[in-house]
Order: sequence, then structure tokens, then C-alpha cells
Amino acid sequence: MKQVTVEAPASSANLGPGFDVFALAFDEPRDMVQIVSRDSDKVGVEIRQMMGQPVPLEPRRNGAGTVSLAIARDLGIKAKITIKLWKRVPIGVGMGSSAASAASTAVAMNELFGLKLKKSELTYYAGKGEEVTSGAAHYDNVAAAILGDFVIVGKGERPEPIRLPAPRSMALCVATPLVKLPSRKTEYARSILPKAVSLSRVVENVSNASTIVSGFAFRDIGLIGKGMNDSIVEGARKRMVPGYELVKERATGAGASGVCISGAGPSMLAIVDGMNRAREVLDSMLAAFSESDVESRGFVTRVGKGARVVEGK
Ligand code: HSE
Repeated sequence: MKQVTVEAPASSANLGPGFDVFALAFDEPRDMVQIVSRDSDKVGVEIRQMMGQPVPLEPRRNGAGTVSLAIARDLGIKAKITIKLWKRVPIGVGMGSSAASAASTAVAMNELFGLKLKKSELTYYAGKGEEVTSGAAHYDNVAAAILGDFVIVGKGERPEPIRLPAPRSMALCVATPLVKLPSRKTEYARSILPKAVSLSRVVENVSNASTIVSGFAFRDIGLIGKGMNDSIVEGARKRMVPGYELVKERATGAGASGVCISGAGPSMLAIVDGMNRAREVLDSMLAAFSESDVESRGFVTRVGKGARVVEGK
């Protein structure tokens, strides 16, 4: 018998104009996965949830189960695998919860079976988990959960994520409205997106996305925030976030450099220069939700590192 324990962070995808391409890893919260393997002449996966909101335990309907089965199939692993799952990242609110579990699992399988997979291959396999939980393979959250910091990743068959460190003083405010959401929320949030957009909107988004990347390259929080505007995806999704406009307005007024929907929502993300100011910004976001007759909760965190092995084989 051998076992390994890995944790990987929550993350916020898109940052406005970078739909399916950009994501930012949080310092907290982090999901944890322990994989135990026992010798066997065939593959078997069992999932046990140790804490958190319940997830499907049938391996093919579970992101972590799907990732482990895909890796075992492609790399010829035969073993009886038990996955113990500590879900600490809230599910279905735009914080990359499924990605945190999928990334932890890919990294744990790599470590446990000495596979020497590259970061791009880990991202590819973790993306298999996203396919199951959100209906489409996209690599933004899983790349952030594996690499940490700010990531840029394409949509191709083999993702090649690029990581850029975040400015040290960057703080993140995450505010979540407590609203009733459709089941399979991400799938729904993707189904309402426009199939075609005007060239002028594309130009606007390329400009904003380039501003964000320049901001990370120059470690300039003001520049990053300036680029966090999008009317294509957020234009379609803002009706899922009651109080969207007011939250943006109030957070900016309280000193946020940029505000956007976090991933597929309904959480909102604000980036702020400095932890002290971040608490004021978070309060302004929660007050804006309250003024919009919605209960909400939130927290402040920093940009975090990617998945890490916490207990080795
Ligand atoms: N880029 C994805 C989306 C993130 O916005 O649909 C959610 O998983």
C-alpha cells in the first residue's frame, strides 16, 4: 500500500475579458485529496468524501474519479485506488471548486505512481474532471490550481499554461450572493453566452485582456484592474448576479482596482492594492448586495501557490 496527500487552491477564472483563458489562484481555501493505492491486476477507483458539501461518489460522475481513471487508462496503471476528498472550496459559486479537486488528484496520481508528467500534461488530465462537472473541457481554473498565481491557458487539445506571478501587495475580495442557482450552474452559465459577437466587442476585449497581461508583466495592480472589464460574457451572465452593477460601483468607490464576476459566478471578485483596504472593499460589496435585497457572504485572501504535496508516498 502507498499513499500521498495533495492540496490545491480555489481560483477565479476569466478576470473579465479572459473567458476560458485567464485564472488567478487563491491562497485559501484549498481542497485536499489523499490517494491510497493497493496492488491489483485491474483498475478500481473508490471515492470517499471526508468533509464538505456532498459530491457524486460514482467515479465516472466525479471530477477526481474521472481524472484518476483517465490517467490510469493512458499510463497503464493497474491498482485499487481509494480517493479521500476533503472539499473546502464552496461548490458552484465560481471559485473553481471542481478544479481544485481535479488538480489535487492529477498531482497526487503523478506523485504516487512516479509518472513525471509535465505541468501541461497535469493540466490536460485535470481538465478531464472539468468536462464531467461543467459539461466542457476548459483549463483556466485547473491550470491556476496546478501552477498557482496568474495563468494564461489556451483551449487546444494539449493546453500549454503560462504562469505569471502576481504583485506582492495584491489582495482579493470574494463576495458571494446567496441566490438559488440552476443545477449544473456552470453548464447553464455557458449555455446563455452569445454564439457570435461584434468585431468592436472583440477589439475591446483584446485590448482589456492585453492590459491585464501587461499589468502582471509590470506588476502594476492598477493596470490589471483597468483591464478587468468585459461586456461579452458578463453582459450575458450579469442577470445571474443580483446587484452586479451596484457591487462593481461600490467596490470601485471603496478603492478596488478592478471588479468582475468570478468564473461562471455568482461570486464577484475585486482586486485591491493592500490587505487593509481590501477589508473595506469587501464590506462595500456585501453592503451593495444587501442594498439589492440579497444576502451574501465573503472573504479576503491573497493570490496563492498551486497544488502541493503535503504528505508523500
Ligand atoms: N471559464 C469558465 C466559465 C470558468 O466562465 O464558464 C468556470 O468553470
